[in-house]
Amino acid sequence: MVTAIIGGQWGDEGKGKMVDYYCQNADIVVRVQGGANAGHTVVVGDKKYILHLIPSGILNPKTICIIGQGVVIDPATLLEEIALLKSLGIKLDGRLLISNRAHLVMPYHKMLDQLKEKSADGTSAKIGTTGRGIGPTYMDKVARNGIRVVDLLKPEQIKKKIEENLNFVNKVLGGIYNSPTLEAKTIVDDYLKYDKEMDPYITDTGAYLNQALREKKTIIIEGAQGALLDIDIGTYPYVTASNTTAGGCATGSGIGPTKIDTVVSIVKAYTTRVGEGPFPTELPVKEGNTLREKGQEFGATTGRPRRCGWFDAELVKFACESSGVDELIITKLDVLDDLAKLKICTGYSFEGKTLKYFPADLDILSGVTPIYEELSGWQANTTGAKQFSDLPVNARAYLKRLEEVVGVPIKLVSVGPERTQTIVK
Ligand code: IMP
Repeated sequence: MVTAIIGGQWGDEGKGKMVDYYCQNADIVVRVQGGANAGHTVVVGDKKYILHLIPSGILNPKTICIIGQGVVIDPATLLEEIALLKSLGIKLDGRLLISNRAHLVMPYHKMLDQLKEKSADGTSAKIGTTGRGIGPTYMDKVARNGIRVVDLLKPEQIKKKIEENLNFVNKVLGGIYNSPTLEAKTIVDDYLKYDKEMDPYITDTGAYLNQALREKKTIIIEGAQGALLDIDIGTYPYVTASNTTAGGCATGSGIGPTKIDTVVSIVKAYTTRVGEGPFPTELPVKEGNTLREKGQEFGATTGRPRRCGWFDAELVKFACESSGVDELIITKLDVLDDLAKLKICTGYSFEGKTLKYFPADLDILSGVTPIYEELSGWQANTTGAKQFSDLPVNARAYLKRLEEVVGVPIKLVSVGPERTQTIVK
């Protein structure tokens, strides 16, 4: 049984909590794309830790956690996370598996990412990236210059590849960005050291997953970021560099698309976005502050305040269609508890006409007027609700309307950060 859990907006929908919830009954969880740009909070006792690469299921002692072939791995970050988890007494041996096909984030990828963002002027867009080297690593992957985990096994080959890449990269660093250049030897030495520590976890994770399928294991695919950050359907160029939609769950894991039984999309009861790019239902800073403060809307990776706005059903509907979503999970409903009035965007109008499709052209998307429906709030605390009928009538009406306009049934509703604050509808 394979369930893919993906983000249905611009990331930060609360996937970490929900993946952890699903992992209670799962044998395996696999991350399939992105890298240390993602961030999920793990709570151990009264302390909170943020993990970027290791799947959210790691706290579940029975779940095998896989970093799949579509992920780009920054070994330094990965080893920090391994050390942190070990220091917390969490056992990883035999539980953490790393794909030998995954690409490695190199120090120059992070430098190029950050320098490009800093130097962005009118001729190149500032994306507002996380600065974790994600875009440049995928660029090298597609350009066939990438360095994969499997290359670490051959010191001579990795040395040659790094030297070749630096021939070009140093020209860009020094010539274009006026930045210090890099020495191949230092990088080679560091990465061979990383390899020694990563070695026990490296395997062919695609083969492992396909064997697990034959043994009828329960597998959760953990997507990162969200549909509108997808390189193909997202608000390009203000997107990440991988496929965050259901398609990426197959290519990034090595599990065939026909083997994915259920695609679940997680969406917040409102909308947020970090980084640049259009956001039709964005609220002015002051109004957005209510949601930002109550929802703790600050980036887990960068700490940046998230932009906040009303629920955009037009966008979620488009995202669901692009991934063939079967079920929705609504998170952070409780953040809306105090509001007297709520708005749902049910479509866009542009130059006096209602748009039929979610626009590809960002000039249009930036200029649309959201068509809103206004609903009454419930102004009651939902954080203790245990079942759907415990929710106030207006909260149920709000969820019903979301379901109707998006056209996908809601399976779960989250009303707080704890596992127990999850309502099965
Ligand atoms: P990158 O993935 O670091 O290249 O950043 C590209 C865009 O994706 C930027 O707008 C980032 O803010 C956004 N982004 C990347 N990862 C996440 C995430 O985990 N949550 C929300 N936004 C993200």
